[in-house]
Amino acid sequence: MADGFASFEYTPEVEAQTRPLWEKVKARVTPLEWRLQAPLIAAINQLKAEKNAVILAHNYMTPEIFHGVGDFVGDSLGLAREAARCDAKIIVQAGVHFMAETSKILAPEKTVLIPDLLAGCSLASSITGADVRLIKQRYPGIPVVTYVNTTADVKAETDICCTSANAVQVVEHAAREWGVDRVILIPDEFLARNVARQTDIKIIAWQGRCEVHERFTAEDILELKAAYPQAQILAHPECPAEVLEVSDFAGSTAAMSDFVMLRKPKQVVLITECSMADNVACDAPETEFIRPCNLCPHMKRISLENIYEALLHDRYEVKVEADVAASARLAVQRMIDMPPLAIPARYDLVKARHHVDVELI
Ligand code: 13P
Ligand code: SF4
Repeated sequence: MADGFASFEYTPEVEAQTRPLWEKVKARVTPLEWRLQAPLIAAINQLKAEKNAVILAHNYMTPEIFHGVGDFVGDSLGLAREAARCDAKIIVQAGVHFMAETSKILAPEKTVLIPDLLAGCSLASSITGADVRLIKQRYPGIPVVTYVNTTADVKAETDICCTSANAVQVVEHAAREWGVDRVILIPDEFLARNVARQTDIKIIAWQGRCEVHERFTAEDILELKAAYPQAQILAHPECPAEVLEVSDFAGSTAAMSDFVMLRKPKQVVLITECSMADNVACDAPETEFIRPCNLCPHMKRISLENIYEALLHDRYEVKVEADVAASARLAVQRMIDMPPLAIPARYDLVKARHHVDVELI
């Protein structure tokens, strides 16, 4: 426990209040950890009620945050929808900065807090609004589809946003609406390459990378398959195409979670950020999780301690300039207004095995 939190004690009241949460996480959290975490969890949950606040927690948060204090949990798409829908006065984003900006864009009347301003993202920092303006000059008339893992400035230059859950659907929608056969899909090169393999629309891509998912290789997957022949291997579409080619399933973090909850595989490997498996494992005791994973240093900046401080001191408030927010809102809202997907979004690996190239900017 960090200095300043020592007075939070594991009293019988705290034990009673947090017992249902403990039952949920006890497979992944030790009793010693829980005695330190439970008092803060109880204090955060009380502060939320007093201040009419909600916590939107991404799937990559650690279990004590995800299961202990998250009011709404999920992937980027789910959290964006919830930001627009919820009626709290304050949103605390347990995630990274671009997610907090997205919440602010969709809910300008709410106070949006991020517990650590340095919780960034390698994809979001790979491109600027000025870059997108130059791209638009180079490809006039071609719609710009931007992954939500971008800053508000970039979204403001965008025609429509997408997430990993709906990228193929959004690209095809944009091509139809603009009456073109090419679409700019930025900034994740690997997501763009994976989308290109599943659609007849030509893709123009940017060379941004997720520093967590770019590190997985096809060799890693083949080794896992040899060691655990029964295991289902689920990969995130920010991974290189060669990784998806040898995986059994690919989809957003929510689609991976749905896969485990619905199909209840005996053994599973989640090729993504480390906390994802911990969180799903709390809800899927019948599945064994094999755990090669990479940590996202940005997501891991968020802790119970700084969430508590954020709520107590109303910090750090995320603001987006009104004109930027208005343009960005159009792009995010166009995505949100698309019809919900009938089945959990997933990549069609059968079709994706046919290699299709992209034009790199
Ligand atoms: P999703 O939750 O949208 O799948 O995104 C994963 C991610 O890396 C977010 O930073
Ligand atoms: Fe960005 Fe990758 Fe971390 Fe997600 S996991 S926040 S895409 S660096």
